[in-house]
Amino acid sequence: MDNVQLGDLHFELYIKEQDIRTKVKELAREITNDYKDRNPIILCVLNGSFIFTADLVRFMEMDCEIQFVKLKSYSGTESTGIVEELLEPMSDINGREVIIVEDIVDTGNTLAAYIPKLQYRSPKSIKIVSLLFKKEALVHPLDVHYYGFEIPNKFVVGYGLDYNQKGRSLEHIYQLKSN
Ligand code: IMP
Ligand code: MG
Repeated sequence: MDNVQLGDLHFELYIKEQDIRTKVKELAREITNDYKDRNPIILCVLNGSFIFTADLVRFMEMDCEIQFVKLKSYSGTESTGIVEELLEPMSDINGREVIIVEDIVDTGNTLAAYIPKLQYRSPKSIKIVSLLFKKEALVHPLDVHYYGFEIPNKFVVGYGLDYNQKGRSLEHIYQLKSN
């Protein structure tokens, strides 16, 4: 499928499933090299990161613990700047190495608001892995340690990312059409 319509918006194919897969494997290899024998907590940021996290951990070759946090900062195609924590990780973060897994870092509002909350639980370290990074849109001094693709400031869907809860199950990533 080269074009999809979700609600009122039209999207075109942007990153193919095969290219995503290659990139996720590379990220998994890098993280495995850095974290082998350190048993990090992989903190999946719901909902958008569920597919990326599932693929990433299966390509990693090391022990890890998988936890989930649910953060909400978006309404439609605009970042609201308000971050709600709808679900907290269950396990003890104290002294643990944490890798936050994001589908996309856009303005950075979500993680800039969430990281201080996480730091309050005294982890040993925090790093971020994001599949996509809209570097131009970033408004916070956020260090995205690992990322797959740097993309322009255009709305994307698929591979976990949604437009008003639609499009998450698309296997490729699609970009909003300009007109
Ligand atoms: P930020 O707080 O602006 O960095 O945005 C973070 C969250 O907004 C991401 O984790 C996504 O869930 C969502 N988001 C940002 N850009 C997009 C997009 O292009 N498509 C779908 N969701 C997005
Ligand atoms: Mg997200």
